[in-house]
Amino acid sequence: MDFKDSIRVIPDFPQPGISFKDITTLLKDGAKYRAAIDELKALVAHLEIDVIAGPEARGFVVGAPLAYALGVGFVPIRKSGKLPYETIEVGYDLEYGKDTLAVHTDAIQPGQKVLIADDLLATGGTIATSVSLVEQLGGQVVGAAFLIELTALAGRNKLSDIEVVTLLTYED
Ligand code: PRP
Ligand code: MG
Repeated sequence: MDFKDSIRVIPDFPQPGISFKDITTLLKDGAKYRAAIDELKALVAHLEIDVIAGPEARGFVVGAPLAYALGVGFVPIRKSGKLPYETIEVGYDLEYGKDTLAVHTDAIQPGQKVLIADDLLATGGTIATSVSLVEQLGGQVVGAAFLIELTALAGRNKLSDIEVVTLLTYED
């Protein structure tokens, strides 16, 4: 299936020079959304996965349905101040701006095999931070799955030891 047809590209959003990949046009199409999740499921079928972790917010719309499809749990990685229980936090730089991600300290058990899922791999800052959080809890990151990879930003290089699967690539 051609998923690129369903991604709306917005130039200069949220700031000049950024070519924003808008997935809302894919998400609202039930058949395409389901097909995208099913295709990601097939791409990670060879991995042993105990739980999926996804960073807020767009990581939830990929990670949660993928977890449901695989019959495994979902761990939300959230922006600072949102999780109610004890957390660990890591700060990071984004393609545009800075942020901090957090996870509950009891979200992942030591030795659990974790797939991290998000909508987009750009600089890799978000996913590398998610990997750091999972590993601090003793989880083993077995892969990272994305709808979209922006290849020119080389985020994949921040994940050198981790298998990366993506449905679609754009240069930037
Ligand atoms: C976007 C996107 C990825 C991240 C990719 O999230 O959803 O999570 O940027 O960029 P990176 O590889 O350079 O880190 P954003 O922080 O804009 O927030 P959102 O998911 O809450 O919209
Ligand atoms: Mg995000």
